[in-house]
Amino acid sequence: MPADPLVGRRILVAACGSIAAVKLPQLVSSLVQHGAQVRCVLSPRAEHFVSPLALASLSRQPCNLEAHQWDPCQPRPLHIALAEWAELVVVAPLSATTLARLAHGLADTLLSSTILASRAPLLAAPAMNTAMWDAPAVRANWQALCHWPRLLPMVPTRGLLACDSRGIGRLPDPELLLQGVRAALTTGGVTDLQGLRILCSAGPTWEFLDSVRCLTNPSSGRMGVAMALMACLRGAAVQLVHGPLSNVPASWLDPLDTCSVVSATEMGAELAHRLPHVHGLVMAAAVADHSPGVTNAMKWPKDALPNPLPLQGTPDLAADLAARMRGDQWVLGFAAEHELDRARALEKLRRKGLDWIVLNPIGLAGRGFGNRPNGGVLLRADGEEQGLACQDKITMAGAIWSALAGEVHRFQRSGPRPNLT
Ligand SMILES: Cc1cc2nc3c(=O)[nH]c(=O)nc-3n(C[C@H](O)[C@H](O)[C@H](O)COP(=O)(O)O)c2cc1C
Repeated sequence: MPADPLVGRRILVAACGSIAAVKLPQLVSSLVQHGAQVRCVLSPRAEHFVSPLALASLSRQPCNLEAHQWDPCQPRPLHIALAEWAELVVVAPLSATTLARLAHGLADTLLSSTILASRAPLLAAPAMNTAMWDAPAVRANWQALCHWPRLLPMVPTRGLLACDSRGIGRLPDPELLLQGVRAALTTGGVTDLQGLRILCSAGPTWEFLDSVRCLTNPSSGRMGVAMALMACLRGAAVQLVHGPLSNVPASWLDPLDTCSVVSATEMGAELAHRLPHVHGLVMAAAVADHSPGVTNAMKWPKDALPNPLPLQGTPDLAADLAARMRGDQWVLGFAAEHELDRARALEKLRRKGLDWIVLNPIGLAGRGFGNRPNGGVLLRADGEEQGLACQDKITMAGAIWSALAGEVHRFQRSGPRPNLT
């Protein structure tokens, strides 16, 4: 398997004085478990919320505190040494106070002076009470920070806050922050899909025979949600239409505009409704090929089940949607095949009017549904291909977007789609 973008990378994790700093040990632990080198720096107030000893133990490095900046034993200014060491700086949680410091260039703490002295990409995740987040001064500071080059913004999520109110202000879950770190390391902090509106589909569909039985497949939706999440973290506005999901961390859905469906017909209707307003479509859903030819609103007794069961084909959503697309809209399909059968995947791509197709051979050892790795090839209509090594699905989603990022902006298809001729 190729290296996860986290392996061996030098990540400086900085925390401010917010109750959300209690989530930090989990992030640090995950980063270290995935092979990253991690150092931590705390603001003076953050020391009230999270244990420097816990962070030192989890990162296997001393935790950098305000007092260390003024330690005469430091051979170089600590903020410069840390800033030059880091390949990526993560500030999570970012308080309103430190946000103001950064927006106005105030280097009066070890934490703010380190970030101001760093040329590395910055992942910034503010967390605060909803009213604070809505305050015009805080918003103005956030807007100013968002203009920094190589800034990956991770806005607060909605939920129950420590102040007992419900609203926007929560620090994203550590699992989601981990994916933000992956995205920032993959692109060097450049939000290379910014300005794009992307529609994604994911998951299986369920085609009900009666109230308790259905035809479906073992797709978890993990690959499609990973595509949606990575596009979002790289700056795209993403809408996700998904069937019943499994093996997908709930926090991956937090930053996405989602719509949950059950059947192929519902999925087709929701995608068609959104299609005119997007630049491109990612069809990663494993739509059931057949639905029962007879159905019953109630549960059939076992001995009354139709046998043999008549089947009818479900609509080919990728082909139907491609046929409705304008020449400036693109569509990426996925073909899960038993083997690496390029000819079959290319035939699918051409027949359905797709622009690219990811051929993923699920029959090869160690690959498949759920949280198992994936891999294969990304094929273009002209037969040109790019290999996708066997890797974790979220890493593979990053690799696919890296391969396509240059082409999806200002896309223009060279010929009509087959169904239009
Ligand atoms: C219990 C408690 C919780 C706090 N939570 C937050 C918070 O979530 N976000 C925030 O911006 N400030 C929060 N504050 C206020 C900051 O700690 C305060 O503004 C401090 O000056 C931040 O300094 P720093 O950015 O250097 O850590 C909280 C304060 C207390 C006492």
